[in-house]
Amino acid sequence: MMGGQMAARLVALFLALMSLGRGTLETYENEMSLGGNLFLVNREYVLASDYQPDDLVKPNVRCTNSNITMRKEAAQALEGMFQAARAEGGHTLIAVSGFRSYGQQTAIFERKVKNVGKKKAMLLVAPPGTSEHQLGLAMDLGTPQNQQLNEAFGDTEAGQWVRDNCHRFGFIIRYKDEWTDITGYADEPWHVRYVGEEHAARIYEMDIPLEYYIDTLRLAQYEKILDE
Ligand code: DAL
Ligand code: ZN
Repeated sequence: MMGGQMAARLVALFLALMSLGRGTLETYENEMSLGGNLFLVNREYVLASDYQPDDLVKPNVRCTNSNITMRKEAAQALEGMFQAARAEGGHTLIAVSGFRSYGQQTAIFERKVKNVGKKKAMLLVAPPGTSEHQLGLAMDLGTPQNQQLNEAFGDTEAGQWVRDNCHRFGFIIRYKDEWTDITGYADEPWHVRYVGEEHAARIYEMDIPLEYYIDTLRLAQYEKILDE
């Protein structure tokens, strides 16, 4: 059930969104469509098996392998974040996993099911068609010491820097322990999702899952139309 604190945050967000002009909300509508930075993917909103963005590029950052790609705008933002992590915090970040096709996600999911069973796998890996990695807007991060994508990343200084600063570059921490009932996933301090700076700043400030942000935005759009 939603806590009082979360409800208060959503009311504050709703009021902030209602103060925006209709044109801004229409822009957000486009961003929430497939191909936009705010497109929601989860177990409810599933991507077609042949969906693949057409602007994938290799980010100019340290990567675990040479096949790591993400969408162009997100890749540029990632480069800025990696540079700032080094310049401001002295942290070296490593890109571990970016865009994954439907087929690649299927293989990862099936391997996880085989290793830990379906119930646990569902908490850790998105079933095919439901991963933000297929959008090309997610990146998994590691450090020179640990590229295993486990919770230890969140305890490192680099991981804490990412948690506190990724919004400045348009990224959000998408999965947190306290949101498991909403997102379906366990804590993933290493998985950042690009939504653009404006939305990332709001989501960070409100400390809410993307699902709630999108719901509130849709509600504000609806109310605005009714008001006119
Ligand atoms: N680990 C995240 C949920 C994914 O597989 O997309
Ligand atoms: Zn991920």
